[in-house]
Amino acid sequence: MDQVKIAPSLLAADFANLAEEVARIEAHVDMLHLDIMDGHFVPNISFGMPVIESLRPHTRLIFDCHMMTTNPDLYFEDLKNAGGDLAMIHIEAVTDPTEAAARAREAGLGFGLVVNPPTPIAAIEPFVELCDMVLVMSVHPGFGGQVFIPEALEKTEAARKWVDEHGLSVDIQIDGGINPETARLAREAGANVFVAGTAIFRADDPVIAVERLRQAIDGRDV
Ligand code: DX5
Ligand code: ZN
Repeated sequence: MDQVKIAPSLLAADFANLAEEVARIEAHVDMLHLDIMDGHFVPNISFGMPVIESLRPHTRLIFDCHMMTTNPDLYFEDLKNAGGDLAMIHIEAVTDPTEAAARAREAGLGFGLVVNPPTPIAAIEPFVELCDMVLVMSVHPGFGGQVFIPEALEKTEAARKWVDEHGLSVDIQIDGGINPETARLAREAGANVFVAGTAIFRADDPVIAVERLRQAIDGRDV
């Protein structure tokens, strides 16, 4: 199966010290998950391009941008200019995913689709081949610190099956309520990219928290 990647969600970090928060974990993780919320697609507002641009010079981590906005394609140019690498957009937010993928690539971004808990994997299946990564939400988007929704495991299995059966090399990401226990279940279901906010940035030692996640994912004792 594909390479395991850990993507800490900045949403749970100390917003007054973002550069330091990222520097602590940079050497131990694979990408940085940035939750962009517009107060419209989700009932919460987080941060946007100015914060991403300010953070860009402080880290070489890939910026995995989870866009919880309506009309996400309108922001691709700005996201690229701010230093974003990967635009992950919700299938529920776009009318033409093929067009959105083309626009993201034109802007110089990687591209992926996200499914909310009520949305079946079938909704993205025709577009998976256009994606670098697909994201199965294991909470309703908008807030950190929520409890993992177990139904996300079946959807992860369905996504893995689709990717493997079609011979695609698309990452399968899971986001929401990820801790060592849920990460292990998600790994067994076929996920290879693990987003964790609370479990990493709210831990006493974020580096040890990352190691605990990796141990659980690898099936070593936690
Ligand atoms: C929720 C976000 C998640 C969130 C995860 O809308 O998409 O990335 O930060 O937070 P935890 O890991 O605390 O569930
Ligand atoms: Zn997210």
